[in-house]
Amino acid sequence: MRPDPHSYADTGQPQTSSISFDLHVDFELKTLSGEIELRFREPGSGPLDLDTNGLRIAALTSLAGAALKFELARPEPILGARLRIDLPAQTRGVRIRYATSPGASALQWLGPAQTSSGQPFLFSQCQPIHARSVFPLQDSPRVRVTVDSARFTVPPRLRTLMAASFRGRQGPATDVFAMPQPIPPYLLAFAVGDLTSRELSRRSAVWAEPAVADAAAFEFAGVEQMIVAAEKLFGPYEWERYDVLVMPPSFPFGGMENPRLTFVTPSVLAGDRSLVNVIAHELAHAWTGNLITNASLNDFWLNEGFTVYAERRILEALEGRELSELHAAIGRHDLDVALERFRTRPELTRLRTDLAGIDPDEAYSTLPYEKGYLFLRRLEELAGRAAWDGFLRAYMTAFRFQSIDTAQFLGLLDRELPGLSQKARALEWIDQPGIPADAPQPRSRRLEELRSVELPPADVSPTELLVHLQAVRSPTERVLRELDARFGLSSRKSLELRHTFVLLQLRAGLAEGIDGARRVVRETGRMKYLRPVYQELAKTDRAVARRTFDELRESYHPIARAVVEGLLK
Ligand code: BES
Ligand code: ZN
Repeated sequence: MRPDPHSYADTGQPQTSSISFDLHVDFELKTLSGEIELRFREPGSGPLDLDTNGLRIAALTSLAGAALKFELARPEPILGARLRIDLPAQTRGVRIRYATSPGASALQWLGPAQTSSGQPFLFSQCQPIHARSVFPLQDSPRVRVTVDSARFTVPPRLRTLMAASFRGRQGPATDVFAMPQPIPPYLLAFAVGDLTSRELSRRSAVWAEPAVADAAAFEFAGVEQMIVAAEKLFGPYEWERYDVLVMPPSFPFGGMENPRLTFVTPSVLAGDRSLVNVIAHELAHAWTGNLITNASLNDFWLNEGFTVYAERRILEALEGRELSELHAAIGRHDLDVALERFRTRPELTRLRTDLAGIDPDEAYSTLPYEKGYLFLRRLEELAGRAAWDGFLRAYMTAFRFQSIDTAQFLGLLDRELPGLSQKARALEWIDQPGIPADAPQPRSRRLEELRSVELPPADVSPTELLVHLQAVRSPTERVLRELDARFGLSSRKSLELRHTFVLLQLRAGLAEGIDGARRVVRETGRMKYLRPVYQELAKTDRAVARRTFDELRESYHPIARAVVEGLLK
């Protein structure tokens, strides 16, 4: 059976339980080449179907070295090419010699001009289904693997970081890692560059190119407190170290929860620690996502909805309810934008989806994050916090190191808190489009104030200011100029604030919005900012939007490029 619509992995065939690989990183050819070994949970025979995308297969043998018959199918648009191997009786695993293609969807190769160090940089981004463009394997999150040995041979002056445990450098330039905890393939992650670190605590450091290392150490100084707060809520941190890697600006996401090593956009370095909720989010994934993983993308809300909920609980524990309510309000605003985007595709506004035949990068939105958050908050409200926190602990224990679907979540909910799911009308939340009428409403006195004043007082926090800006409807030129004069919004380091302000300027028809928009999309490759800014810029002046994108497209990550391309069409 093939239970995952985005993978050829078949549950009737041998299941991979551990892998080892040895790869040579070639910045000239933009390829990785070398060898991977897949070892099975139990010896097996017959067909074995692996996922690949753009891989060139050079040789394929058993672990003992006997040549095996295989067939690489014609590539399918979303899934890639199935690699079918014919396993003789009692096969314990396979060894594959292969190379990636320069266009591998999981990789971005940056030239010296695209980094602050003037050195080249390579990084992977495998979620949701790009691991197959780097490794031939069963690329479904239900197939969890450990990594016995991962070897990267790189240019000697660069260093590899992998989301794994570092075992040392061998010879002139081979970095060796291992990952003893079983992880879904989308969490395989590495970066190669001119990287240096700053210690944050006994179990935590930040990595970055030298020019940003100090700023990063300042921004993330509170990481250890976050880990402590999260452990108090969700149980012990199971991954030993928690490091953060600050990526080059083209990183297409805010953050990525790669185990032991969160990847994060440099746009969170606002200089005032106002965007560290991104770190709280990626850290929370150590429990919700990495310890307990969605079985397929149809249950993606189990990863992201739980993580947004956990992120706000961490913030509440550290900073208080006022602040976590501000974040919930910002989330509600973003949710309304996503609902509008999917007005003609309501099926994508369910929590439990059917993404067969759909490219998950195209379906990606904040919806499973924020609708999932509201659903869990609703359950908490009805159960009461003490009982609900008991459920969270039971959830973390019951499913640790497992990949689960929504039905398994509901099963545990019924056993632990009988009657709650009926009371909350859980199935309406899960299987119906849109947002139920009884959804929780983020509320606080501060929120009311921020939304009703024309000009907030000069001492508001960056998060409060964002709440205010998001609530501004049909701004006048005068109000925008006063906001800019008071808060320096058009030159603000925080792109969270600056891009929101630019959207207001463009909507108000102010000419300086165009220049502001161009600056935002030049400074970052983060899709959260590119999408709305290009969209609004195109509404204002299509030709400028097109020209700007043509200038910048080569600097963007392939996924981001496709997204902007799609909205300028
Ligand atoms: N796991 C996601 C990023 C992701 C999701 C990459 C799906 C590829 C496919 C990560 O944890 C995330 O949600 N990042 C957010 C952070 C925000 C919610 C604080 C982002 O990138 O904006
Ligand atoms: Zn997330």
